[in-house]
Amino acid sequence: MIIVDENMNLHAFNTMRMNVRCNKWIEFTMAEDAPSVMTMVADDKFAIVGGGSNIFFTGDFDGVILHPAIKIWEAVALGDGRVEITLGAGNILDLTIENLCKCGLWGLENLSGIPGTVGGAAVQNAGAYGAEFADVIKEVRVWDIKDSRFVDLPRESLDYGYRHSVFKSPEQRSRYIILTVTIVVGKATSPKLEYGPLKELKETDALTPMAIREKVLEIRDSKLPDVDKTGSAGSFFKNPVVDAATWRSFLASADKFGLAEDEIPHFVLDDGRIKIPAAWLIEKCGWKGKSLGDAGVWRNQPLIIVNATGSATPGDIMAVRDAVIADVRSMFGISLEPEVVCL
Ligand code: EPU
Repeated sequence: MIIVDENMNLHAFNTMRMNVRCNKWIEFTMAEDAPSVMTMVADDKFAIVGGGSNIFFTGDFDGVILHPAIKIWEAVALGDGRVEITLGAGNILDLTIENLCKCGLWGLENLSGIPGTVGGAAVQNAGAYGAEFADVIKEVRVWDIKDSRFVDLPRESLDYGYRHSVFKSPEQRSRYIILTVTIVVGKATSPKLEYGPLKELKETDALTPMAIREKVLEIRDSKLPDVDKTGSAGSFFKNPVVDAATWRSFLASADKFGLAEDEIPHFVLDDGRIKIPAAWLIEKCGWKGKSLGDAGVWRNQPLIIVNATGSATPGDIMAVRDAVIADVRSMFGISLEPEVVCL
């Protein structure tokens, strides 16, 4: 089924709760609808929006918004305790995870509570607490707009990395519509407990995916805003990654911030580069919990820009974004880059 609307308000379809409109809205419920949908788009500008939880609308969208609402769930037992599940892109990620946990299936429990859809999670490689969505992906079925055909893309071809995939690359961004995502999850106990507060579960006997889900939801609750109460698009910025030389000069100026070198939080990546938590940089600039008009920086996790009053406009969000970027650059010489997709 294909549903079309004109001049549609997108408030309910972006968790930042921007009161913006698009020229045309096309929602479709079956993978087979994709070719007809693209015929309707013709030469107009378009963007694909699932849950709108990782998108920041900088204003009205002068084009077509495509909303894949495919909800299928097809599970096949592989006979060795693993289950292959093909999920429609429009399934709500967290409901999917809750169901997997109820079935005692391991794989996605660390991603509990992440807002948005399965399709969106496959685009941005949603990640949290030591796990990434790509860890369980087997393949992604897309409509290839360029070649006008359905294609099954195996995970190895999708260039997954930290908050990255082929679907985010500038060259391929408008090429594919994700229709279904096939994941493999399993009955064999395989907890991922390396992230700080999850370590305490290591002592638990008979650990279940549901127990990890509950702990993750508790951690998220204490740090992250509930998007049903306070508009946000999750982490607004990526954690910056610097090369070893930049890191050394950064350390050399650590005393400028009144800190010993070993007090600066950082993570050494496999390739030797250094990831510095953007939350820490932003907090050090004094932005934690600070507002500028109707928008602000979240009080418990400064990586998140919030629609503090519910009435913030795109301009209010951009004012906070630009001020945070400018302050971090002038204090640390590091340029923060958005993690959210700006439309
Ligand atoms: N920190 C501070 N002040 C704070 C919070 C954090 O200085 O108020 C520093 C601490 O050093 C802390 C470090 O930042 O150790 C990392 O903080 P946290 O563990 O909260 O994670 P993050 O790197 O800030 C990332 C993801 C989150 C995800 C968490 C947990 C990105 C851009 N963000 O945040 O994802 O929930 O890890 O795995 O990678 C999202 O993408 O929308 C999102 C919320």
